[in-house]
Amino acid sequence: MFPTKVKRLLQLRHTLWGCASLKAPCSRLVLGIETSCDDTGAAVMDETGKILGESLHSQKEVHLRTGGIIPTVAQQLHRENIERVVQEALERSHVAPSRLSAVATTVMPGLGLSLGIGLDFSRRFVRQHNKPFIPIHHMEAHALTVRMLQPVPFPFLVLLVSGGHSLLAVARGVDDFLLLGHSLDEAPGDTMDKVARRLSLIKHPQCSTLSGGQALELLAKDGDRSRFPFRTPMGQTYDCCFSFTGLRNQVNMAIMKKEAEEGIEQGTLLSCVKDIAAATQHTVASHLAKRTHRAIVFCKENGMLPSSNPTLVLSGGVASNEYIRKTLSIITETTGLHLLCPPAKFCTDNGVMIAWNGVERLREGKGILPPNVDVRYEPKALLGVDMSAEVRAAAIRLPSVRIKIHN
Ligand code: KG4
Ligand code: ZN
Repeated sequence: MFPTKVKRLLQLRHTLWGCASLKAPCSRLVLGIETSCDDTGAAVMDETGKILGESLHSQKEVHLRTGGIIPTVAQQLHRENIERVVQEALERSHVAPSRLSAVATTVMPGLGLSLGIGLDFSRRFVRQHNKPFIPIHHMEAHALTVRMLQPVPFPFLVLLVSGGHSLLAVARGVDDFLLLGHSLDEAPGDTMDKVARRLSLIKHPQCSTLSGGQALELLAKDGDRSRFPFRTPMGQTYDCCFSFTGLRNQVNMAIMKKEAEEGIEQGTLLSCVKDIAAATQHTVASHLAKRTHRAIVFCKENGMLPSSNPTLVLSGGVASNEYIRKTLSIITETTGLHLLCPPAKFCTDNGVMIAWNGVERLREGKGILPPNVDVRYEPKALLGVDMSAEVRAAAIRLPSVRIKIHN
């Protein structure tokens, strides 16, 4: 038997061997994996939220060429890239799989075929390396990303807007959300992508490599939105849900009318693309602003947010849009909330946000599964407890707020 002093020394050496260097504090490490849509992402993060290494493969260019995401193409590209992307994230972080404390992977919601690739890879990986597995809800990850960058205590209101989703929720804890509203048809990013395709913006010299949303934002800077006064959706429905297909129809009708006037075929760039981009972006922003304003009033009336420093977090790919950020900041200024948006690189899909969600769950010991447990992916999955019916029943009328933004 060793004397106590020697035992302590041995324990200390054991602790240090598990760490990257003698200087680095020993922290649990999480590998995050994202494949829910068209980005194959992986990242290794320590328990403090420090990104040790990451890798991201975007399929955007392929999908721009094919005119939208074809699920089987997305699946094939994830299949071709997942191993390399994970390997790169591990190598860049100088972390061997044996040193990981857990693997966190998006398993819902998203494209089934895409989710399946990340989940199959992760299942094999955790079994091979005998690591705990943390299944991740993609929208929970978008909602929590901001806490990786600064301390944001629960509860806070969150507006998540991306290519696949739009939702308003109160985040009360890592796995505790009250859903106030969600999209009834398509998501704002999807609408902007479709409008950009209908306008053939891929042929525009400044837009050929941009996503639809990015292209509309760029062109809108020099556009006159007042030339196309589109109606803001759901003006007579006093809840916090979203709808974008009606707006897309209005835009399509306006485009057809202009094509007829200018005597050009579909597929040719219209002379007024900038004005249509500005009007579309403004109407999307104004719809998001009105639903968010109602959510804020509902939360205040029901004491759902703290009285000191109540916060709105805006995230998801569409939240990269500066015009939308400014519009939402008018609402938060009017209602006395504090607006927080992660930088654009953390708003769009990536492996880092999944690793961070894994860290948050690991810290709280929530949803950590043994390596051999059977997990299924779920293409559709609401976030949290659905309270949209209660919000609708409250039928809150809003005071009008003037939204004027100078480019
Ligand atoms: O969060 P994300 O990367 O993937 C999904 O989970 O959907 O979001 C992608 C979406 C695309 O629809 C893209 O057009 C949109 O985000 N997006 C933008 C901007 N940047 C990306 N929409 C408006 N303005 C932007 N600057
Ligand atoms: Zn996303």
